Amino acid sequence: MRQFILALDQGTTSSRAILFDRDGRVAGCAQQEFPQHFPQPGWVEHDALDIWNSQLACAREVLRTAGIVPQQLAAIGIANQRETTIVWDRASGAPIAPAIVWQDRRTAEACEQVRAQGRAGLIQQKTGLELDAYFSATKLQWLLDHVPGARARAERGELAFGTVDSWLGFKLCGRHVTDVSNASRTMLFNIHTMRWDEELLDLFGVPAALLPEVVSSSGQVGLTQAEWLGHPVPIAGIAGDQQAATFGQACHRKGMVKNTYGTGCFMLMHAGELPPQSRNRLLATVGWRIGGRTDYLLEGSVFMGGATVQWLRDGLGIIRQSSDVEALATSVPDSGGVMLVPAFAGLGAPYWDPYARGAIVGMTRGTTAAHIARAAVEAIAFQSAVLLEAMQKDADCPVAEVRADGGAARNDLLMQFQADLLGVPVVRPQVTETTALGAAYLAGLAVGFWQSREEIAAQWHVDRRFEPSMPPERSAALMAGWRRAVETVKSWAA
Ligand code: G3P
Repeated sequence: MRQFILALDQGTTSSRAILFDRDGRVAGCAQQEFPQHFPQPGWVEHDALDIWNSQLACAREVLRTAGIVPQQLAAIGIANQRETTIVWDRASGAPIAPAIVWQDRRTAEACEQVRAQGRAGLIQQKTGLELDAYFSATKLQWLLDHVPGARARAERGELAFGTVDSWLGFKLCGRHVTDVSNASRTMLFNIHTMRWDEELLDLFGVPAALLPEVVSSSGQVGLTQAEWLGHPVPIAGIAGDQQAATFGQACHRKGMVKNTYGTGCFMLMHAGELPPQSRNRLLATVGWRIGGRTDYLLEGSVFMGGATVQWLRDGLGIIRQSSDVEALATSVPDSGGVMLVPAFAGLGAPYWDPYARGAIVGMTRGTTAAHIARAAVEAIAFQSAVLLEAMQKDADCPVAEVRADGGAARNDLLMQFQADLLGVPVVRPQVTETTALGAAYLAGLAVGFWQSREEIAAQWHVDRRFEPSMPPERSAALMAGWRRAVETVKSWAA
C-alpha cells in the first residue's frame, strides 16, 4: 500500500488538509473557509469549534477525494496560525470563550501598562519577542480577567490554554501539548531555557496549571482517536505555520530566508543553533526542535499582506476576486505616485505601532482604481523590503536570495517588484504549499518516512527566479517615498 503524510494547515481564514507522497509532491488537497468575527473595532475572534470542525472535515474530505484509507497515512503533521489563544474546559473539551486571534488589538493598552512598568526589555531578553498585543500572553490574561469564574477555575486546574496546535492535538488525540515553535510565540516561554518562564507567568497572572506540555516539533505525540479518521494515525510533527514554511522551503542553514505572502507577510531567516539578538526590532523565535537540536530564526511580521488585496475586493469593491488584482494593477505602468499603507491592524515589525491606521497618499485627479490596485500590490513588497533591510543589518552574513511562497507568490508582478526593491533574487519553488509541506516533513522525519534534512532539501526545486532589474537609484527613491508615507500613519489612532 502506498504511504502518505497528511498535513493539517490550520490558517487564519481557512483550514486545509494536504496529502504528500514520498517525493514531497501534493497528492490531494481539501480546504474550507470558516467565519471571522469582528465584534468591536480592532477585535478579531474565531469560534474554536469552527476551527476544529473545518479542520476535521478537510482531513476526511482529502482522504475521500484522493481515494486513500487512513491505514495509508504514515503520520500527521500540524501547522497552524500562531498566537491565537484558546481556553477550554479540560473535562468537557468545550471552549470557555471565543478564540482571540493573533490580529486582535484589544490588549494594546495592557501592553502599554507592562511597558510603563519597564518590563519590555526583560520580555525581549527572555522570549525574543517585542512587547505587543500580537502574542498570546495578554490575550490569555484578558480571557482570565473577563470570562466570569475563569481565573478561579484555571487555578483549580479545570481549564487548559493552548494555541491552535494544542487545541487540535487535544481534540485529535486527547493530549495537551504544544511544540517549541508555538510555545515561543506566547510571550510566556523562555527561548534560552526552553521552558515556561515563572517570572513571565507571574507578570501576566497566568496559573501554570493552564499550560500545555512542551514537546519537540518532530516526534510522535499520540494517536488520533479512531472515530475521527476511521483508524488511529500518529501525530508526529507540530510547528507554527511560519516556522513550518521555513522548514518546507528547506531554509535549514544559517542565513537562508523565506517570505510567505499569506494574510500577512512573514519573513524568516535561519539564525543558527543559538537564539539571535535583534538590534532592529525583529523577533527571535524558535524554528523547530528535532532530535534534541534546536534551530532558531529571526522573523519580521507584517500584519497586512494578501489581506490588503482582500480589502480591495471586500472593502473597496474594485475587484471581484483576489486573482483579478494582477490584471488591474498591470493595466497601468506604475502607481502614478500613489502609496497605500495598509496599517489597518496597526504596524508590525519593525515599527510595532498598534495605533497606526491605513492611508492612501499621493492621489491626483488622474488616480484610478488601477493605480490603487497597483499601490496595494506594491505595499506588500515595500513592507517586506523594510523587513529584509532590518534582517540584513541584524545578520552577519549577506542574503543570497529570498524564497517566496503563499497565495500571493503566484503574482508575477509582485515577485518582480519585490526583487527590484530588495536588490536580491526572489525564488518561487515548484511546491508553494510549503507550510503544509514543512509540517509533513517534520512528521515524516519522526516516523522514518524521510531519513534526513538532506533528503528533504533535495526535493526543493525552482519554479521561477525573479532577478532584480530596477536601477538601484530608482528603488532607493521608491523606498524613501514609502518611509515618508509610513510616517504619516504612525500613532494615528492613539
Ligand atoms: O503569526 C500569525 C501567522 O501564523 C498567521 O499565518 O498563514 O494564517 O496568515 P496565516
